[in-house]
Amino acid sequence: MSEPVIRLENIYRNFKKGREVVPVLQDISFDVNSLEFLCLVGESGCGKTTTGKIISGLLPPSSGTIFFEGKDISKLRGKEQKRYRRSVQIIHQDPYASLNPTQTIYDMISYPLFHHKFVRTANDARRRVSELLELVDLTPVEDVIDKYPHQLSGGQRQRVSIARALTTEPSVIVADESVSMVDVSIRIGLLQMMMDLRDQLGVTIVFITHDLALAKYFAWQGRIGVMYLGRIVELGKTQQLIANPQHPYTKVLLSAIPEPDPEKTRNKQHIQLRSEDIPRLTELPSGCSFHPRCPWYIENTCDVEVPQLLIPQHTDGEVEVACFPAQTEKELVLHGS
Ligand SMILES: Nc1ncnc2c1ncn2[C@@H]1O[C@H](COP(=O)(O)OP(=O)(O)OP(=O)(O)O)[C@@H](O)[C@H]1O
Ligand SMILES: [Mg+2]
Repeated sequence: MSEPVIRLENIYRNFKKGREVVPVLQDISFDVNSLEFLCLVGESGCGKTTTGKIISGLLPPSSGTIFFEGKDISKLRGKEQKRYRRSVQIIHQDPYASLNPTQTIYDMISYPLFHHKFVRTANDARRRVSELLELVDLTPVEDVIDKYPHQLSGGQRQRVSIARALTTEPSVIVADESVSMVDVSIRIGLLQMMMDLRDQLGVTIVFITHDLALAKYFAWQGRIGVMYLGRIVELGKTQQLIANPQHPYTKVLLSAIPEPDPEKTRNKQHIQLRSEDIPRLTELPSGCSFHPRCPWYIENTCDVEVPQLLIPQHTDGEVEVACFPAQTEKELVLHGS
């Protein structure tokens, strides 16, 4: 297998809030493989955007190492550093995101083209901006290129953001879908376009969402990483992860997805949590952060040690899970049943 395009190794990230130190990411390690569609899923506040910013170099980790094509990014200098910055682009999928209201679409997209010396003349710039607008399906280009952001719809503005990210010819795009983005048709249209871009341009996509149903659909040929309170609790190939979820938290998220087939709905395992309360990041439980809510919780193990991501022996080996009961037991006994 070829070298991963991005590797995160033991990433921690804290934020200071007054006198408190908030541990937002803890011991995050995973690879992003070239040309894959990797989806990070989890509830609001679990650290998805922070992870995306760390991947794209917008935010340094408190500790841990990020590798780009095998090289530690903190050691990159000069041309190599510029290449990393250009190669990994993040798109915040927020329809209210600020595109400068005083600039036309042409101004916005041509600026990075000139800045990074991809073009030198106004003619070349206009040609390249038109190509990029076509790539993101903003056609006919003449109807869009000289407009201001307020003259476009929310969906069109999102496409402009994507076209702008493509100016640097990135090899990785981190697409961060905001919770506030409620319009399903826009979300699906954008994702469909990202999939096409991946095939056309050979871009690796890291898609960030709170919506497991969307992750399941778009990352069906790829992988999903499930996050809970700043850690990855389950990671692997989507089809296996969905068919045979190991972590109780993944099972809970999955049971919330409606199924068109009533038979499937009846056969779904419904997990009764011991508690609905999500702990605060500043008061994280000892051991596994999920243990106060977990129906399989093993006393003196789950509340003491932090489980690492491992492939359980009794599975087909495609999904890693950070859960002691899931790693050891074939038939799990639910507390209270
Ligand atoms: N710059 C910052 N300073 C202080 N705290 C921060 C900062 N950025 C993020 N946080 C905190 O880190 C935690 C994780 O935030 P993050 O934005 O990564 O979550 P998320 O999974 O993307 O959530 P959402 O689904 O709502 O976008 C939150 O508790 C947030 O308040
Ligand atoms: Mg976020």
